[in-house]
Amino acid sequence: MGSRRNFPAVIPLQLSCLCIFSLLLSAAMAWPHQYFPTTSLRVGFYSSTCPPAEAIVRKAVDKFVSLNPGLAAGLIRMHFHDCFVRGCDASVLLDSTPGNIAEKDSPVNNPSLRGFEVIDKAKSQLEAICPNKVSCADILAFAARDSASKVGGIHYDVPAGRRDGLVSQASDVLLNLPAPFFTAQQITDSFAKKGLSLDEMVTLSGAHSIGVSHCSSFSNRLYSFNATSPMDPSMDPAYAAFLKTKCPPPSTARSAPDPTVPLDSLTPNRLDNRYYVGLMMKRGLLTSDQTLLSSPSTSWAARNNAMYSSIWAAKFARAMVHMGSVEVLTGRKGEIRRNCHVIN
Ligand code: HEM
Ligand SMILES: *[C@@H]1O[C@H](CO)[C@@H](O)[C@H](O)[C@H]1NC(C)=O
Repeated sequence: MGSRRNFPAVIPLQLSCLCIFSLLLSAAMAWPHQYFPTTSLRVGFYSSTCPPAEAIVRKAVDKFVSLNPGLAAGLIRMHFHDCFVRGCDASVLLDSTPGNIAEKDSPVNNPSLRGFEVIDKAKSQLEAICPNKVSCADILAFAARDSASKVGGIHYDVPAGRRDGLVSQASDVLLNLPAPFFTAQQITDSFAKKGLSLDEMVTLSGAHSIGVSHCSSFSNRLYSFNATSPMDPSMDPAYAAFLKTKCPPPSTARSAPDPTVPLDSLTPNRLDNRYYVGLMMKRGLLTSDQTLLSSPSTSWAARNNAMYSSIWAAKFARAMVHMGSVEVLTGRKGEIRRNCHVIN
């Protein structure tokens, strides 16, 4: 009863609170932009400053990926490699300079990382239309999304407003990105350091349902596994035999060829959950792939992704958005690079 009697008295209080709040809000919004910096990412960030931004990126991705579907894999991987090293700040796009080896020239990225020309194309078109407005980091996040949409039918909105970093050091790369020989625990730890959960890690590994790996990233599993067994017993022997026809034994010769093979042998050009089905057939290409199924901590998540394709796709979209927010620069931090290869 008491609460009923109190009820009418609450309304004026709420109204006055609302009133004060909206006053504060409108005052804040009337401030010049630099005193009210955006500190988080937002969908539609360019709707007033450069309305065609996302469409231009999408068109560039469409064109390049139609000619070479492998570039979709390249762009999704590039976004991951950007976000895990100094946050999603386009540090991966900066060129080396005299006295500084940039991230892109770490052996992790060079020569395997691909898709730079897609970003360059979108950036030059955007600079022509809305100079100095759209960050390279956002272009990369959009391009990864458009790639997932084109080769996987996975659609999601990308919150934007990332700004471009000023630093890129090759030595940061190995310290922050998981390696193909990592155990499930090591991979989980590496993602946890970026605020990503075990389930997000297993889900994002599904990106290995497209693209390729160089033989050097896994040929130890074929030729030099350990002292007693040259082959990794967690790999299907028929698949291993097939891979041996593609990959020569590791050689120390500098000019030794290093061919590539599809990461997902079932549907190599389609971003889907067949990658996890491949793991159940012992056809994970990298140690870090197969271990998701063989490790108790991750196998439940991997098996679920193998079974429920649309649930995996929805989780993948959400996890990409989360990964795209890792350690971002916003507001007045960083800059909008004019050329993604160099700081302004
Ligand atoms: C879980 C830990 C991960 C490890 C250890 C790992 C490692 C690797 C390695 C070694 C390659 C092959 C590079 C080469 O030799 O050419 C590769 C390729 C690739 N990775 Fe990952 N990766 C991981 C997670 C991810 C994530 C989270 C994504 C994206 C969301 C991703 C996307 C890709 C793609 C698309 C390719 C194929 C690239 C191409 O064809 O150009 N990876 N990864
Ligand atoms: C080599 O690997 C096999 C299979 O995992 C294992 O049973 C064996 O103990 C390993 N040998 C050595 C020397 O580590």
